Amino acid sequence: MGRMAGKVALISGGAEGIGGTLGRMIVAEGGSVMLGDVQTDKAAELASELGEHAASVKLDVRSLDDWNAAVAATLARFGKLTTLCNIAGISEPGNAVDVDLDSWNRTIDINLNGTFYGCRAAIPAMEASGEPCTIVNIGSMLAMRPGGQMAAYCASKSAVTALTKCVALDLAARGLPIRANAVHPGAIRTPMYYRYLNSGVAAPEDIAAMFAATHPMGRSGEPEEVAQAILFLSCADSSFTSGTDLTVDGAGSIRDR
Ligand SMILES: NC(=O)c1ccc[n+]([C@@H]2O[C@H](COP(=O)([O-])OP(=O)(O)OC[C@H]3O[C@@H](n4cnc5c(N)ncnc54)[C@H](O)[C@@H]3O)[C@@H](O)[C@H]2O)c1
Repeated sequence: MGRMAGKVALISGGAEGIGGTLGRMIVAEGGSVMLGDVQTDKAAELASELGEHAASVKLDVRSLDDWNAAVAATLARFGKLTTLCNIAGISEPGNAVDVDLDSWNRTIDINLNGTFYGCRAAIPAMEASGEPCTIVNIGSMLAMRPGGQMAAYCASKSAVTALTKCVALDLAARGLPIRANAVHPGAIRTPMYYRYLNSGVAAPEDIAAMFAATHPMGRSGEPEEVAQAILFLSCADSSFTSGTDLTVDGAGSIRDR
């Protein structure tokens, strides 16, 4: 029996990248997934490829109404919600003085508020399931080891880290069997990674080399390596783990220079 047998996951950012890879993995492990994304066509395409244990829903994580509708769609299709994976996120450059204000607000809105709304919308449904449930929020290596030119991103991901612990503590204090944890990836080869590689800020091979150099293991990661960590925190293998930070960054967040 798969590690997610009988579980029902709602994944934000489920159309591609880490979220899409995770969707595939959860279905392969016997679970069902609702893929929520603003890229509705891509999410629908992946859901239809995954078959009867997958469906998709339009979800802009900046909207609490969208979140409530996504939870309702999950309950309508699969009968319950046991697993929330807050994966949607954006990454835009800028230091604290020069960052474009729209970029700052968009980043906080998607990365932080989107994660908060997800928890808020999903937890009552999880409580109603009466089963052990899990929340995994995506932070970043840059939440642990911030960079001056990524002010909004680092601030949003550090806040997600703190929010995750607040949620974990509150759920535990209320005696609910719902755990909340954060996963912190380093540079991972997803569409986000390739957009940056091709952004023109430097030659793609130089950016790739820079990423490899900032990870002591000497390379960037693969989406499957992050999805495996999320899967671990989403299943019973991690049954006594809540409020933790799991880095998947080739030791990047603890590098000494
Ligand atoms: N790839 C990396 O190097 C890396 C490193 C650290 C952290 N992360 C984090 O991992 C998460 C996933 O990253 P990825 O690399 O898979 O990114 P990606 O850009 O490849 O995929 C992100 C997905 O989120 C969706 N999305 C974006 N805005 C949304 C919104 N407002 N509402 C709903 N969906 C939205 C996109 O449509 C896309 O399907 C993000 O939170 C990112 O910050 C990624």
